[in-house]
Amino acid sequence: MAIKLKNQNEIFEIFGINEVYANKPINRMKIKPKVELKSKKLINLKNKIEAIQDCELKKSANNLVFNDGDENSPIMLVGEGPGQKEDALGKPFVGEAGSLLNKMLAAINLDRKKIYITNVVNYRPPNNRKPEPQEISRYAEFLREHISIIDPKILILMGSTAMEAFFGAKIKITKSRGEWRELIVNKKMIKTMITFHPAYLLRQPDQKKFSWKDLKIIRKELDKLNLNI
Ligand code: URA
Repeated sequence: MAIKLKNQNEIFEIFGINEVYANKPINRMKIKPKVELKSKKLINLKNKIEAIQDCELKKSANNLVFNDGDENSPIMLVGEGPGQKEDALGKPFVGEAGSLLNKMLAAINLDRKKIYITNVVNYRPPNNRKPEPQEISRYAEFLREHISIIDPKILILMGSTAMEAFFGAKIKITKSRGEWRELIVNKKMIKTMITFHPAYLLRQPDQKKFSWKDLKIIRKELDKLNLNI
């Protein structure tokens, strides 16, 4: 006797089957996440800054001053903005303040080439004036992205402009320098130290003793974190 085959739905009903296997195979292979290289992200950011419009700083500057040093360094240092020499050479901290910075770093056994350096504003302010609050906040957007790309273990903010970019103008650098702060950038906490700017120290050498204190705190932390730098 020929058996009449029932259709699938009838069979499910007869056997009380409520769940069926999907006939699509499960794909157990993970899709490789697209990891964009740091250097590529930095180029993109630089291009974004280069494309800035209606910026007084850009109009009078000769060059974009973006970065110097090791992009994989655990230490990122942020200054104010390029001076005349930096504007001419397109590199941060290459003038007089830069020479002092190199000596300050060497005093705690840090080679400038092994850290990553940038500024709050990437174009030289006319006559080296301090960047305006609105310029600071405009460039702080780029700076946040910059920090997030470098992803440092330790961030050093040099001078009141770098301090203001993240902590506002209400606090005084004389009161806020020399202690660790927690800065959240792109949902990540970064250990941050505010300290005097080398250009300020050139004008006020008697303040160097405070800088020295801050540098020693930074060295201690590097040793504590076992950062081989
Ligand atoms: N001062 C800064 O803040 N940055 C430089 O690059 C040079 C001097």
